[in-house]
Amino acid sequence: MADRPPLLIASDVQVFYGMSHVLHGATLDIPEGEVTALVGRNGVGKTTLVNAIAGLVPVQSGLIDLNGTDLTKLPATARRGLGIGLVPQGRRIFRNLTVDEHLSLAPPSATNPFTREWIYETFPRLHERRSSMASNLSGGEQSMLAISRALTIEPKLLIMDEPTEGLAPLLVETVRQVIDQLRAQQLTVLLVEQNLNFAHALADRVAIMDRGVIEHLFTGSEIPDTTTIGNLIISGTEH
Ligand SMILES: Nc1ncnc2c1ncn2[C@@H]1O[C@H](COP(=O)(O)OP(=O)(O)OP(=O)(O)O)[C@@H](O)[C@H]1O
Ligand SMILES: [Mg+2]
Repeated sequence: MADRPPLLIASDVQVFYGMSHVLHGATLDIPEGEVTALVGRNGVGKTTLVNAIAGLVPVQSGLIDLNGTDLTKLPATARRGLGIGLVPQGRRIFRNLTVDEHLSLAPPSATNPFTREWIYETFPRLHERRSSMASNLSGGEQSMLAISRALTIEPKLLIMDEPTEGLAPLLVETVRQVIDQLRAQQLTVLLVEQNLNFAHALADRVAIMDRGVIEHLFTGSEIPDTTTIGNLIISGTEH
């Protein structure tokens, strides 16, 4: 069991898109300094939940609490200011900004350990490409940039929504090493992942989502092997 207090508590979160009820009371605690993996089939609401945490979709009801602050009424910019960093699904980088410009978007902070120097040391390829337009970067470079951009806001919680989607195995390994490094720096991470081996290798806890709720939560030594997790995910489709 986790003995650290939750940094973020999402409790009974309900989200609708128009008439379509997508989150049916999703509840998830994210302990400080740990990597929480969120897994589930396509379309079960993983992105909707992380977007609700980041303030990109409105919640109908429920609680989203960061260290005692209720986020539900705050706009996305305010949540970013409080330390909710999001690496969105599909990266969403700005095509006509350079790498350097992306890394200059957040106001400078003297306390952020993830300085531009740290970023360029961690991703030497981004340093080489620092004057390139993001539209000219490869998929892997764009992925590194999306992660780096989220780090520039001095995140307390870094949410990564399928960071390995579409990446070649070598780059998947690079992303894994980066997340390992972030964990070593005590950063709290919420990792949405379809790649179960990847999620399993990194996670301190694994939350399984199905049809808008968290169906199972495994922590520490309770985390089953990837085959069992895969079966739990698939079993949700069978009724
Ligand atoms: N903007 C939107 N308007 C209407 N319906 C949406 C919108 N975004 C997502 N949905 C629907 O909400 C449900 C949950 O979508 P969501 O993107 O949260 O799932 P997901 O688990 O992240 O899926 P994936 O694994 O494919 O990324 C899906 O049925 C999707 O079609
Ligand atoms: Mg998604």
